[in-house]
Amino acid sequence: MGPGIAATLLRGGMTVRAHDTSAQALENAPTLIATANSVLDALGRPDKRNGGEVSVSGDLATCVEGADLVIETIPEDIDLKLTLLEHLDRLVSADCILASDSSGIPVSKLQTNVSNPGRVIGMHWSNPPHIIPMIEVIAGEKTDQAVVEWMVSTIEGFNLIPVVVKKDVPGFVENRILYALLREAVDLVEQGVIDAEDLDTCVSWGIGYKLAVIGPMALLDMAGLDIYQAVGSYLNKELCNRDDVGQFVTDLTSGGNLGIKTGGGVYSYTPEKIKELQSARAKTLVAVRKALEAS
Ligand SMILES: NC(=O)c1ccc[n+]([C@@H]2O[C@H](COP(=O)([O-])OP(=O)(O)OC[C@H]3O[C@@H](n4cnc5c(N)ncnc54)[C@H](O)[C@@H]3O)[C@@H](O)[C@H]2O)c1
Repeated sequence: MGPGIAATLLRGGMTVRAHDTSAQALENAPTLIATANSVLDALGRPDKRNGGEVSVSGDLATCVEGADLVIETIPEDIDLKLTLLEHLDRLVSADCILASDSSGIPVSKLQTNVSNPGRVIGMHWSNPPHIIPMIEVIAGEKTDQAVVEWMVSTIEGFNLIPVVVKKDVPGFVENRILYALLREAVDLVEQGVIDAEDLDTCVSWGIGYKLAVIGPMALLDMAGLDIYQAVGSYLNKELCNRDDVGQFVTDLTSGGNLGIKTGGGVYSYTPEKIKELQSARAKTLVAVRKALEAS
């Protein structure tokens, strides 16, 4: 997430410094940022760079010195995030905002080790962050309202789309919806109702395509609330409601089949296929975003 976010903010006119504890990540960062920037070119995003590039540093203190905003995008591990936030709290000025790109750890939990928790806020980008314009803004129990307002107007200033999540629930909103869909999708494949490839076709060319134009709440009105009432009254009780992860995924993960990163998961991938998919997906997402913005 880091390189895509850095490229987006730099291009929007911010001075951006990036830090990572991994030497490999530091070495890869300039190329990944340049790739994200070329996608921003393809999207036709205005280039408000002040002439500089993202400076990359292995030293956290140097990186955050004088910062107005720090966005953490380290792995989704609460202990790692708490340690980093506690460290950042000591390094930055009292009014520097500390934002977390956590996918779903409640912000209130992330406020625990910080002397001024009012400045801690959720800023949940969607992947790829340089292409998807919606960003969830989540206040923890102790987040100052002024910090929420600053974050919303800053995101709008980048011509991106902030959505305020009003309650600090695990998974926020985007991932709760996504994981509800994934639970049902995995269950349908596991039960042999449909093959994985056909499930993807069904969702992408059916509701996926439609939802990009008409959100679920507007869809209720379009279909008719009476239809939802009638269908929901018999279908809701049929839907998967398991609270663990099903065998289909557990078998794959325990066998080391983690998806693209291991060359196989639900599908199989060669290195050439991965490159081809990544480029085709970025191109299609750019084309779809342009079409949605033009409509
Ligand atoms: N990948 C997604 O689809 C996605 C989408 C939205 C939000 N997120 C969230 O964004 C965060 C990062 O996800 P990602 O997919 O970019 O992870 P990633 O594993 O690709 O990158 C995390 C980076 O953090 C570095 N790191 C680890 N500990 C560190 C520390 N203490 N200080 C500095 N750097 C450290 C790692 O070296 C690594 O380069 C997670 O909280 C994740 O849940 C991910």
